[in-house]
Amino acid sequence: MFAARPPAKVNLTLEVGPLGDDGYHALRSIFLRIGLADRIGLGLVDGVSDRVAVGGLPGAPLDENIVLRALSLLRERAGFALPPVEIELDKRIPVAAGLGGGSSDAAATLMLAQACWGIGLSSAQQAELAARLGSDVPFFVAGAPAGLVEGRGEIVRPLAAVDGEAGVLLVTPRAQLSTRAVFARHDALAAPPPGGRGSVSDDLAAALEDGLTANELCAWAGRLREANDLWPAAAELEPALPELREELERRTDRLWLLSGSGPTLFALYPSPTDAVSAGMSLVDAPADRLASMLLHATNLSGPDPAWRHP
Ligand code: C5P
Repeated sequence: MFAARPPAKVNLTLEVGPLGDDGYHALRSIFLRIGLADRIGLGLVDGVSDRVAVGGLPGAPLDENIVLRALSLLRERAGFALPPVEIELDKRIPVAAGLGGGSSDAAATLMLAQACWGIGLSSAQQAELAARLGSDVPFFVAGAPAGLVEGRGEIVRPLAAVDGEAGVLLVTPRAQLSTRAVFARHDALAAPPPGGRGSVSDDLAAALEDGLTANELCAWAGRLREANDLWPAAAELEPALPELREELERRTDRLWLLSGSGPTLFALYPSPTDAVSAGMSLVDAPADRLASMLLHATNLSGPDPAWRHP
């Protein structure tokens, strides 16, 4: 079996521009790869069709899993018969939570299947398949620790890693949010265009290029908290979110950000150890409603979270 650990991402910024004729919005977003990762294995199998087995966290589709779409796009592109493969997927990244787990699995599948079949696409061909699979996939195919992502997601400018070991604490409510539904609500809310505020994504990209330590990244939280344009829409579709964010900010004395279209909220810490202690203190009280949610404290480089609950 060929194996990989596809990582999750958080969005440090998510600026949403106009809706294009293709049904997608022009984005400008800083993606940050984090240590929390799925497990994927891929190998040849007897039989006539590809198979996928999914374990771990619930919610990932079986029949229409994006990893199967990745295989069929590769077959289409190769243009000749390729033998059936079996994929084993262990979901550790919460599903439909704003963390890019499915997209990262798809990116890993593109790589593993090429290795298994002994074919090699050019990077331009891989980027094209990635963009067809989904808006977050090109970032994961690029393989960078961070990136400025633009267009509908297909334009990725790789950025330097954060210096030192930053920590991230993630809180994922059990509710799933559909990205499509959050974007649709965003359009319905017809928020006034954010004219004149400058692009926080461009500013942060420049800072990362210059070299940003974990402590310096934490100091950005004030600007980043307001830099996800999908927050109003996500908060309408999941009305418990604003109250949850207030509670987290009060109890951790830190600012909390929305990742992607949510519902995962996260806070930045100067080290994984700090993120672990904060997480442990949040689930300390036995009757706490946070105890029913998924919590992960992780570093940025992985391959695993430093702590998780439950
Ligand atoms: O590309 P992906 O399938 O991940 O996108 C899911 C949905 O999110 C799209 O169907 C679209 O409604 C919305 N979306 C968007 N603009 C983007 C990316 C996604 O409107 N740039």
